[in-house]
Amino acid sequence: MVNPPSPTPCLPQNEPDANRRADSLNLQRQAYRYDYQYLPPLVLMESVPAAENFSLQYITERLAATAELPANMLAVKVKSFLDPLDELQDYEDFFAIIPLPKIAKVYQTNDAFAEQRLSGANPLVLRLLNPGDARAQVLNQIPSSKTDFEPLFQVNKELEEGNIYIADYTGTDINYLGPSLVQGGTHAKGRKYLPKPRAFFWWRKSGIRDRGKLVPIAIQFGEKAEKLYTPFEKNPLAWLFAKICVQVADSNHHEMNSHLCRTHFVMEPIAIGTARQLAENHPLSLLLKPHLRFMLTNNHLGQERLINPNGPVDELLAGTLAESMALVKDAYEKWNLRDFAFPREISNRGMDDTERLPHYPYRDDGILVWQSINQFVSDYLHYFYPNPQDITNDQELQAWARELSNSAANQGGNVKGMPANFTAVEDLIEVVTTIIFICGPLHSAVNYGQYDYMTFAANMPLAAYRDLPEAIQDTTGSIIGDARGSITEKDILQLLPPYKKAADQLQSLFTLSDYRYDRLGYYDKAFQELYGRKFEEVFAERDQATITGFLRQFQQNLNMNEQEIDANNQKRVVPYTYLKPSLILNSISI
Ligand SMILES: [Fe+2]
Repeated sequence: MVNPPSPTPCLPQNEPDANRRADSLNLQRQAYRYDYQYLPPLVLMESVPAAENFSLQYITERLAATAELPANMLAVKVKSFLDPLDELQDYEDFFAIIPLPKIAKVYQTNDAFAEQRLSGANPLVLRLLNPGDARAQVLNQIPSSKTDFEPLFQVNKELEEGNIYIADYTGTDINYLGPSLVQGGTHAKGRKYLPKPRAFFWWRKSGIRDRGKLVPIAIQFGEKAEKLYTPFEKNPLAWLFAKICVQVADSNHHEMNSHLCRTHFVMEPIAIGTARQLAENHPLSLLLKPHLRFMLTNNHLGQERLINPNGPVDELLAGTLAESMALVKDAYEKWNLRDFAFPREISNRGMDDTERLPHYPYRDDGILVWQSINQFVSDYLHYFYPNPQDITNDQELQAWARELSNSAANQGGNVKGMPANFTAVEDLIEVVTTIIFICGPLHSAVNYGQYDYMTFAANMPLAAYRDLPEAIQDTTGSIIGDARGSITEKDILQLLPPYKKAADQLQSLFTLSDYRYDRLGYYDKAFQELYGRKFEEVFAERDQATITGFLRQFQQNLNMNEQEIDANNQKRVVPYTYLKPSLILNSISI
């Protein structure tokens, strides 16, 4: 096989062969086109050019990574004839060969439930509850003298001090309106449900090694106070029922909002615009390409095999397919490149105060990786744009910004928050850092938690299979409570996915989290496949030592981050591994 020609990094204003460059960009524009029809207002790819296909190495390695799965599913099938799902414990039986995730042994505890808000598969929902927020009023009904809440819990004082947090899945929270559009889908034996709870948590100052810990204090369904569940339920299974409902709500948020929309789909127009507007040898294209590697193909496969009619999202998530897609659109409408830059996204949720909330692994590990990426991007872009006029004279960069920021009506990528032009290198550094962080760390954080937290269906079911306990009325017909007192293990089993759904959930999510193509900051695999050269060979004609030096420094910083995260994990009850640089991919390749 002949190696593709090695690109010589060069800004357009310095290009010795401008005609050749213009011709190749024209070809790129014909091959990469925006699609506005598939899921408006999202902007996706019309059809994926062959150049984007998975490499042979990717296909071979990924197949090998899935090898254990068929044998596991076969063993599970054989076993299920003898032993159907008739107690909660039976959900462990789905792991006949592949390892049982640790969460299976602790998921019913309050600690595991709270910790998942901070370091689970979806650490992106919890936010600080302000004292003036009307949603806080219901908390006055929590029994405050229970010994479980030692030292004595005073709602108003804790609210004032900023120790109360909320995860709101009701569909009335401005940040997450999607659930209001979900009625629930159907399956062979009846309905599926999307519970719409509001879960409240308290950061208690004493807890684990006295750094405190997050404690769930209430779960509310609907506006009526009688729908409030607390850890003090006389029937402990009622509290478990409520917690599992939160987990269902969270799994639907995770897949459609955090994962599919806020990584895979928001990055798709950026990959298209990069191919259309930046020549292959443009320094920004060379920087971004490893981070956009295989995403278009991967997303396209997702359209064919995950969000297709009768596919896993349709079959396994709570809503109908159209309703689940409504969750994606809702997430897209709230998203923009500026507010979803890692540090701003954390502070917008009020989760940035490390004294008030000293334990938030996603934040604490994420900021280390963010800083390393930011440093590398800054070194690299300052090198290519030493003066402001280098940026303003770069017609490709300006066209990239203009097209991506343009609306769909103007044939653009509709990337909200993308500046329409760049005049300062600092603005470009922020945008590029955000793109790389979303493609690498953020995607890996939400993707690889799927195995540990979501393949075991009893912890994070993708749908509920029965409704809340029935309402109880007094003689005048007004609702005074519900049948929570009589909830049994059988009711919990009716809430959880039945056998086939639980098996399919395991199978789908295992396949999405069993393989890593590459590793953040290590570009040789992608460069070799894309350009037939190593990173330092592509930059050989430029100041090779400088650019390669930036990359080596980046890798060293990431390795230092790894050591710091390992040290952090020594102090954590549950290690958080998803933002360890050695486990982060460069791109959304799975
Ligand atoms: Fe993914």
